[in-house]
Amino acid sequence: MNIIKKTALITGANQGIGKAISKQLVKKGIKVIGTSTTLSGVHKINNYLKKNGFGLLLDLRDIDSIIPTIQQIYKKRNYIDILINNAGITSDNLLIKMNEKEWENVIKINLTSVFYTSKSVISSMIKKKQGRIITIGSVIGNTGNKGQSNYSASKSGIIGFHKSLALEVASKGITVNIVAPGFIKTNLIKNINSNQYKKYLSNIPMKRLGTTKEIADAVVFLSSEKASYITGHILHVNGGMHMA
Ligand SMILES: NC(=O)c1ccc[n+]([C@@H]2O[C@H](COP(=O)([O-])OP(=O)(O)OC[C@H]3O[C@@H](n4cnc5c(N)ncnc54)[C@H](OP(=O)(O)O)[C@@H]3O)[C@@H](O)[C@H]2O)c1
Repeated sequence: MNIIKKTALITGANQGIGKAISKQLVKKGIKVIGTSTTLSGVHKINNYLKKNGFGLLLDLRDIDSIIPTIQQIYKKRNYIDILINNAGITSDNLLIKMNEKEWENVIKINLTSVFYTSKSVISSMIKKKQGRIITIGSVIGNTGNKGQSNYSASKSGIIGFHKSLALEVASKGITVNIVAPGFIKTNLIKNINSNQYKKYLSNIPMKRLGTTKEIADAVVFLSSEKASYITGHILHVNGGMHMA
């Protein structure tokens, strides 16, 4: 697949890892359609993308809105060559205290939405015999973590989903992969206290957090022609904290 003049749809592109991915893809000549749950997020996306794409309002909690929103993209004559499922949340609690809402929100946004976004793009990718689906997983999907049974389940869930989908579309020129970050400095981990932070750092052989750009570089690689024979893979980007 030629990476020049392709279009990527990226969920959660207004900040953090999603924003870094968008910027790196733009540098490679990719047009980006980036989503946010807020109008101010959409403005932020439009501001940094300039003429290289546009922002779109999408709240993945509203499952019924996902397919119609993506259909609108196609109706406006945009083809989606690359789908990047980046949006994700945490809602941590020990299982004994976790309520249904904490469980359901995380599963809905991190896992169920990926079913709907992927379903929205897969037919047209099959018709065109090319496409890339890349989802941002997490090291926690492999290792588990106290207080994150919901998050870990969602990130493990996408592994089975991606391996299955990769098998279904491998002969159609479509690759389906996961990039699994370790600990990356974004708003997602801003609530970690200094004791937890020290503990996490002590488990990272490289003794530092990862950067959003380091995750974006892995995503850009999997989006490119250079990764044309890689599918059903989990690319861990974690400073050595987990070697799968
Ligand atoms: N940071 C880490 O250490 C780390 C480690 C492993 C995996 N990850 C994964 O990396 C991905 C990006 O996280 P991040 O660290 O960049 O976090 P972040 O800075 O908090 O960004 C999260 C993004 O998800 C979007 N989002 C949240 N709720 C949403 C909803 N209901 N519908 C649609 N979009 C929603 C947000 O959009 P709005 O701001 O518009 O709501 C935001 O753009 C996530 O999947 C996360 O699980 C992160």
